[in-house]
Amino acid sequence: MNNYTENIYPIFDRLLQKAAKEKLLKQRTKALWMTGLSGSGKSTIGQYLEARLHKDGYLSQMLDGDNIRSGLNNNLSFTASDRKENIRRIAEVSKLFVNCGIITLNCFISPTKEIRDYAKNIIGENDFLEIYINAPLEECEARDVKGLYKKARKGEIKNFTGLDSPYEAPQNPDLEIRTDQMTVEESADKIYEFILPHIKY
Ligand code: ADX
Repeated sequence: MNNYTENIYPIFDRLLQKAAKEKLLKQRTKALWMTGLSGSGKSTIGQYLEARLHKDGYLSQMLDGDNIRSGLNNNLSFTASDRKENIRRIAEVSKLFVNCGIITLNCFISPTKEIRDYAKNIIGENDFLEIYINAPLEECEARDVKGLYKKARKGEIKNFTGLDSPYEAPQNPDLEIRTDQMTVEESADKIYEFILPHIKY
């Protein structure tokens, strides 16, 4: 891709530091990167988690595939290169929130290790927690909340993750949630307990 940064002079170093904003908000920040198949429960869990964090006084922002793809990324498809561009923009947005002291709940299939590492590099390793939202393909397909697996099986959607486009499960996620064995509330609570030591001021 073209890079037009030659005559650009960023002022990142002169901006108020993240630590000052964390102090103001009385929280420490992280980007929670939730990866998993379509229908595995990422966004539903994210919604519960956001509500729980809010109730306990933590400011967070959900970033979710379907929302971002209907706005900022509405010009991107599901080819490998567009998925990478999707994740690049989201990681940049996530980094802006994180630098503002806000916890981000990122819910994107982000199907390959390469794509997730790309996001981690942009956001910064220390601010990034990878959470694998794991449900077997058969389960996601049986749920088929949006009816997309059915469409993909009929050939009406191409490059569908898990069918004719690959999903590489994370090998060493910071946390794994089996949504075929837990309720949404249990899953969100487990993530909450896990992140608490990372976000407590
Ligand atoms: S990603 O692969 O680029 O990370 P993202 O999380 O933004 O995907 O978007 C996934 C959502 O887009 C799915 O939950 C589903 O609703 C919708 N979608 C539409 N077409 C596809 C497709 N070919 N593969 C996967 N998801 C698709």
